[in-house]
Amino acid sequence: MNQFIVEGGFPLKGNVSVSGSKNAALPILAATLLTAEQCTIHNVPDIRDTHTMLELLAGLGSKIEFEKNTVKIQTKSINYKKFPGQLACKMRASVLLAGPLVARFGEIKLPYPGGCVLGARPVDTHDFVFKSLGSKEVKGKMPEFHYKGKPKPVAIIMPEMSVTGTENAVMAASLTHGQTKISLAALEPHVQDVCHFINKMGGHVEGIGTHTLTVNGEKKLHGAEYTVTSDYLEVGTFALAGILTGGEITIHNVQHDHLDAFWNALREIGVPFELSGTSVKIKSSKKIKLKSLKRLQTNIFPGFPTDLQPPFTILLTQANGQSYVHEALFEGRFSYFSELKKMGANVKRITEHQALINGPTKLHGARVKSCDIRAGAAMILASLIAKGKTTITDIQYIERGYERMAEKLRELGAHIIKKVD
Ligand code: EPU
Repeated sequence: MNQFIVEGGFPLKGNVSVSGSKNAALPILAATLLTAEQCTIHNVPDIRDTHTMLELLAGLGSKIEFEKNTVKIQTKSINYKKFPGQLACKMRASVLLAGPLVARFGEIKLPYPGGCVLGARPVDTHDFVFKSLGSKEVKGKMPEFHYKGKPKPVAIIMPEMSVTGTENAVMAASLTHGQTKISLAALEPHVQDVCHFINKMGGHVEGIGTHTLTVNGEKKLHGAEYTVTSDYLEVGTFALAGILTGGEITIHNVQHDHLDAFWNALREIGVPFELSGTSVKIKSSKKIKLKSLKRLQTNIFPGFPTDLQPPFTILLTQANGQSYVHEALFEGRFSYFSELKKMGANVKRITEHQALINGPTKLHGARVKSCDIRAGAAMILASLIAKGKTTITDIQYIERGYERMAEKLRELGAHIIKKVD
């Protein structure tokens, strides 16, 4: 089992550039199925989830080249015979193949994406989307996500502002001739990115960045070249690493307005930083007494992202007083508390969605595991300020979502090595 070994206590200094967004790259790669022509996608993060998505697409018959963060991909026809079903079960985002598949080929036949470590996470919203579009569910003996029949243009009112649910609806509608209106759509930056990509393919998605999307579907879409937006979750994670270690770092490739709620929370806590152009400078907060937060509430965009809740909670363990965290989305998102406690943190889960964090606490090294992608990032942040050595196991989660995380931290002065077993 591969591990990260971290020696805490070294302030980070220097410059770091963030990679392309995982949650934008995955649906964009899936959306390339909407055309038989070649697509070229730049700024694709070289992470495990990208490789999983590319393997799934290759299993369907796509011809793929992936070099230096650029993917060239073309899918002339599909064939399920070589589809690596087991792999699809491992990554919930495999459900993103459904929208383009049903729109272009009139059938989806995927293993059921199921739940995951974050909680039950049913796919009822996706089911709702395909049923609303008029595709028929095929019930079999195996738990499969199986729909038949090309979608029809309709008005969909989403039952919740699901990110991948909205992406599936937009992808399916973009190749469905006629007008589809999607109300209560999600508007996360990665949802916007896939809509812009579809428009580059000759699609007509209007209302991008709002909760109402109008898609004028085409009979055919063409190949396109596109650059994936930068990863705002990585920006937040590096910003926190700089702040926690009392260092001074400048983060590049930043789109500030993706993180308005995050910057507000930092201001409230008393952290000094400067936003300019496409970068953010984290100034040393070594001598500053950080204030606790009355309430950190995760929310849909532009609210505070649930994916930054675990990393931000590490900062709250260093703030003076008691902070209250309300995790609105996922019931499994405090799972890392058991690990954080091993490092000396004073964190208490009140309910599945509410927690109290008391600070400041001195953290110490321990053997901890990554419970999921973002909880893994939180463990790294905690280890950077812990006294002594921390061993982080289950780092395959971290590698699913962050490109060259340990290398980038090392370049900033962190003492982190990967131990390969
Ligand atoms: N939900 C349902 N039924 C569904 C789908 C979702 O009940 O069919 C519930 C979930 O249980 C949750 C909420 O709806 O309470 C949000 O789920 P959403 O559908 O928006 O999440 P998702 O599309 O499955 C994406 C990201 C997640 C991120 C969430 C929330 C991708 C590939 N994944 O998931 O990213 O946490 O939106 O913003 O875009 C991560 O990157 O580590 C990650 C988990």
